[in-house]
Amino acid sequence: MTTTGDARGYRASQKALHWLTVLAVAAQLAVGYLLDLDGDCDPAGEDRSGGDTSDAEEERLDRLEDQCEARADDYDLLGGGFDLAELHLALGLTVLALGVVRPLWRRVAGLPPWSEHLSAGQRRLVHWTERALLLLLVVVPLSGIVLVATGDDAWLPLHVGAHVAFFVALAAHLSTNLRPVVLRRML
Ligand code: HEM
Ligand code: HEM
Repeated sequence: MTTTGDARGYRASQKALHWLTVLAVAAQLAVGYLLDLDGDCDPAGEDRSGGDTSDAEEERLDRLEDQCEARADDYDLLGGGFDLAELHLALGLTVLALGVVRPLWRRVAGLPPWSEHLSAGQRRLVHWTERALLLLLVVVPLSGIVLVATGDDAWLPLHVGAHVAFFVALAAHLSTNLRPVVLRRML
């Protein structure tokens, strides 16, 4: 860390970028878990089709399945409606932009001196977890974009693994920063 900047804490611009990122990532995780991971578009009751259901009912279930599959393929931000997949893409692009801007702004604005409440070991942990978080802010959305651009589910484990790695880095980040004396520097 460099020692330029306000000794009492971070600059307003850094705080704004930090909490905007937290909001965008939290919303993105919620949307991510709401997406249909296995792409299963079979409507409830489809397993009964065949001898058990009327033609009209089968047609209705097929229509529902077609609509679901059309939605699942739809990452077109400029076209028609706005669904969860598109929200996931839009939020992902926002996080990616923040992931690019933050390290640049960190270089320009500098960082405040270390909190005196952090031991040497904790400072090392803070240093590496911040690097990991900043890197993952780029890697997680990029892995999602690769997944969608290639249309190949073989990339899904990378996207899932990257966001799990993000959770690990975040847990380490919170282990040092969730104490009031440290948290105050970012409020
Ligand atoms: C910060 C950025 C992102 C985060 C935190 C994130 C998080 C997630 C999460 C939590 C899931 C569900 C995984 C699971 O249930 O284990 C998911 C799935 C997915 N994400 Fe992302 N994601 C991000 C960016 C993106 C981007 C930019 C795209 C590209 C459009 C994308 C495409 C997908 C796709 C295609 C799936 C699977 C959905 C399905 O199979 O129906 N993600 N993401
Ligand atoms: C999306 C999740 C998060 C990311 C990516 C993230 C990333 C970062 C980064 C990169 C820094 C270094 C300062 C900078 O470069 O601007 C930082 C500092 C800080 N973060 Fe987070 N953070 C996240 C969530 C949180 C949460 C949930 C809290 C507490 C509730 C928190 C508390 C802090 C504090 C207190 C500092 C200042 C530590 C110090 O005294 O140097 N962060 N964070």
